Amino acid sequence: MQTQYLRGKDLADKMQKAMKNRVDRLREEGKVPGLTVVLVGEDKASQVYVRNKERRAHKVGIKSDVIRLPETTSESELLTIIQTLNADKSVHGILVQLPLPKQIDEQKILRSIDYEKDVDGFHPMNMGNFLLGNESTLPCTPYGIMTLLKSYDIAFEGKKALVIGRSNIVGKPMALMLMNENATVTIAHSHTQNLKALAKEADILVVAIGKGHLVDADYVKQGAIVIDVGMNRDAAGKLIGDVNTEAIDGIASYVTPVPGGVGPMTITMLLEQTIQKVEKD
Ligand code: GUN
Repeated sequence: MQTQYLRGKDLADKMQKAMKNRVDRLREEGKVPGLTVVLVGEDKASQVYVRNKERRAHKVGIKSDVIRLPETTSESELLTIIQTLNADKSVHGILVQLPLPKQIDEQKILRSIDYEKDVDGFHPMNMGNFLLGNESTLPCTPYGIMTLLKSYDIAFEGKKALVIGRSNIVGKPMALMLMNENATVTIAHSHTQNLKALAKEADILVVAIGKGHLVDADYVKQGAIVIDVGMNRDAAGKLIGDVNTEAIDGIASYVTPVPGGVGPMTITMLLEQTIQKVEKD
């Protein structure tokens, strides 16, 4: 079987080009979409994500600011900044990059963001509405994955899906989105037994555990669709996914590359949800 790449980068470029036109139209009406990203500390991966978000936002015409704060920032200092952003009418989207330093309660911070400006979909109001099937902002990574899969006309109905990873950001919302498309979903995590055997039954395998090249041919059923959410560095510092793509070549029907698969789609959905906040205004 010929394995096809699900090229998130290509779809992201196409979608962002169309977004630029929408933003130009909004600007003509005097509405400039504004996105503020808050980055606390020196986490290397977060710095890369934030730089990419800023670059892409700028490219589609979104006014993008990054507030960079030191590792030692206190919870109350961060809360004060968020209150200011909540009150600022030129800011339509607020994103606090995770993870936060350990002295800061992540959930308390996410709760403090005006949920109507929460472009990440992490506020409990958005998470709750999403769970209930109401309109809400969606977590960008799983939303981007679903958008990518749908663009390749991949069907979900009755398929067996396995999501490896149970984070609030990826695993849990991913499972829910797949279930909403009528897949039969299992979630695996660090306590799951016989992971290889379980994975080998899956028609759709989503891997989001942050272990470089964990998934190889032993985990993948013939013809499976494999989504790699991993962003790891190997010993030489090269960016690698959770899936050993070469090892599953000829086994999977589709696989997302790293880089160029899921990452660009996450950013695209962030921009999409920021623009939507202004269009709905
Ligand atoms: N850290 C890793 N991924 C994300 C994301 O999508 N949003 C935020 N805010 N933090 C992250």
